[in-house]
Amino acid sequence: MLAQAGIDPNDRVFDLGCGTGTMAVIIKKQFPQVEVVGLDPDPRALARACKKAARESLTIQFDQGFGDQLPYPAASFDRALSSFMFHHLPAEEKGKTLREVHRVLKPGGEFHMADFEGPEDRKQGFFGRLLLSHAHLKDNSAANVIALMKDAGFADAAKVGRRTKLFGAVAYYRAMK
Ligand SMILES: C[S@@+](CC[C@H](N)C(=O)[O-])C[C@H]1O[C@@H](n2cnc3c(N)ncnc32)[C@H](O)[C@@H]1O
Repeated sequence: MLAQAGIDPNDRVFDLGCGTGTMAVIIKKQFPQVEVVGLDPDPRALARACKKAARESLTIQFDQGFGDQLPYPAASFDRALSSFMFHHLPAEEKGKTLREVHRVLKPGGEFHMADFEGPEDRKQGFFGRLLLSHAHLKDNSAANVIALMKDAGFADAAKVGRRTKLFGAVAYYRAMK
C-alpha cells in the first residue's frame, strides 16, 4: 500500500485506525521528513504505538478519536492511509468516515486503503468464510466501498489491487480528491 501511495518527502500523512502504529512507524522510518499523524479510538493500542515510536526515536503524532469525527481542520493532509480498519465500521459509519477523510485531505490529496473484501466473491476459503461471518463485512464488497467513496466526494475511486490470503481476499483502493 505504501508503494501505491507514492508518498513525497514533504507530505503530511494520516493513518486512520493506526492501531499499534506499525504502518506509521514504517512510514516515518522510510520518509523521515514526512509528518505522520495516526488516529485510533483504542487507548491501549495508542499507548503501544507511542512506545514503538519512542523506541525508534521517531516523532509521530498519535491521537485518540473516531474516523467519523476527525479532530483536524479541512485540507490538513496530502495522503490518508488506512489498513484493515474499514470492516470494523457499521454501515452507517462507513459513509460518514469517508466524508471525513475527504474533508481533511488537501485538494489533489489521495486516500489509500487496504481491507478485507466483503462477499461478492464466493471463492473464499474456510477462514475467509469465518471472517465473512463478521457482520460488518457484509457491506464491505469492493463495489460497495467504491460507491461509498464516490458518494463521499472522491472524484476517482478504484480498486487497484487484490491479494488472496489464507483468511480471505484483501482489496487495495485508491481514491483521489
Ligand atoms: C485490525 S486493526 C488494524 C490496525 C492497523 N491499521 C494495522 O493494520 O495494523 C483495526 C483498528 O481500527 C480501529 N478502529 C475501529 N473502529 C474505528 C473507528 N471508528 N475509527 C478509527 N479507527 C477505528 C481499531 O481500534 C483498531 O486499532
